[in-house]
Amino acid sequence: MQKKIMLLGSGELGKEFVIAAQRLGQYIIAVDSYNDAPAQQVADEREVINMLDGEELDRIVAKHQPDIIVPEIEAIRTERFYDYEKQGIRVVPSAKAANFTMNRKAIRDLAAKDLGLRTAAYRYANNLEELQLAVEAVGVPCVVKPLMSSSGKGQSVIKKEADIAKAWDYAQSGKRGDQSEVIVEAFVKFNSEITLLTVTQDSGITLFCLPIGHRQENGDYQESWQPAQISPEHLKEAQEMAAKVTRELTGSGIWGVEFFLADEGVYFSELSPRPHDTGMVTMAGTQNLSEFELHARAVLGLPIVEITHERNGASAVILAQSEGSAPVFTGVEQVLAQPKADIRLFGKPVARPYRRMGVVLTYDSPDTEIDAVTQRAIDLAKLVKVTPSNP
Ligand SMILES: Nc1ncnc2c1ncn2[C@@H]1O[C@H](COP(=O)(O)OP(=O)(O)OP(=O)(O)O)[C@@H](O)[C@H]1O
Ligand SMILES: [Mg+2]
Repeated sequence: MQKKIMLLGSGELGKEFVIAAQRLGQYIIAVDSYNDAPAQQVADEREVINMLDGEELDRIVAKHQPDIIVPEIEAIRTERFYDYEKQGIRVVPSAKAANFTMNRKAIRDLAAKDLGLRTAAYRYANNLEELQLAVEAVGVPCVVKPLMSSSGKGQSVIKKEADIAKAWDYAQSGKRGDQSEVIVEAFVKFNSEITLLTVTQDSGITLFCLPIGHRQENGDYQESWQPAQISPEHLKEAQEMAAKVTRELTGSGIWGVEFFLADEGVYFSELSPRPHDTGMVTMAGTQNLSEFELHARAVLGLPIVEITHERNGASAVILAQSEGSAPVFTGVEQVLAQPKADIRLFGKPVARPYRRMGVVLTYDSPDTEIDAVTQRAIDLAKLVKVTPSNP
């Protein structure tokens, strides 16, 4: 049963999804705002449009008439998705899920108010005066984020009164779209943070992957490992929260549900209704099915009998340092000369400072020290350097 799948967003996560879906015989149109994006390099067809433009979206949906729309990023005119669902197109995991998660306010109010999940104390602010009141209400330190942004853009920590105006300006410079409202969250003094990959299926059975630990810096993850250390009580809490919020958002697919683990318990942070970047660790063979294979099956309504732990694994990012096209990689041979190590180079045509260009994967048997596996990934990723041919 070949389906026509339109992938909205064609980055490295989309590329792996396309490969997984094609292995199941599917036909994919990969969409992005620039040509030769990673997933477009392996898809059947491509479109280059501004996905925040609803008319452009309507045009390519009418042109290709996909059976399934798979969003890979947040920055899409997701309001249009409700219409596509009415037209009989399957939106993954659902129009509601994509629409609620592209705006921090919608998902936070749903999680904290409607579902009663434990989150950091929070307030909203529309201007500097409201921000001052919001900071007073939640206390310092606190984190300010534009309602619409990702990868830490426009996000900063307020530690003292003098940081407030700076935080407002920074949020305005990093926001996506024209909405100036921000969320102010109390800073959670967590011991660690995890992503709980959660799979919802047409059958109604929800499955969980083992938790993934990760470390964030400059707004993006630097390394991730699976499984992460967590107490059975905290894991149960996290699974219950993930089940609740995904059930409320409806649909089938994989979700990356982010939590903070603190002394006082587990905090729900946010979630992606799609494969998660920290979940690239599953490409190290940590599970019987990678997060992309799980997503492909769930999206197509194919059964997933179980998710098994096969190896311990880690991923560490390879970042570009300078801007330019046709990047060249050195150090790849050194990485691959090591046992139990692998690499993915995404094929991005242009490098920019801090842009993720690839990832190093390490693994070992399930009874080994996860810290040692992670340290190996970090050390090997440092050997890889990215140099643009045309700076
Ligand atoms: N309230 C908080 N307390 C402590 N740390 C926080 C808080 N909110 C965010 N952080 C830190 O900042 C990181 C990024 O925050 P968040 O996930 O909300 O932003 P994002 O821009 O959506 O990131 P991404 O899109 O990459 O997931 C978190 O993973 C965590 O390390
Ligand atoms: Mg996040």
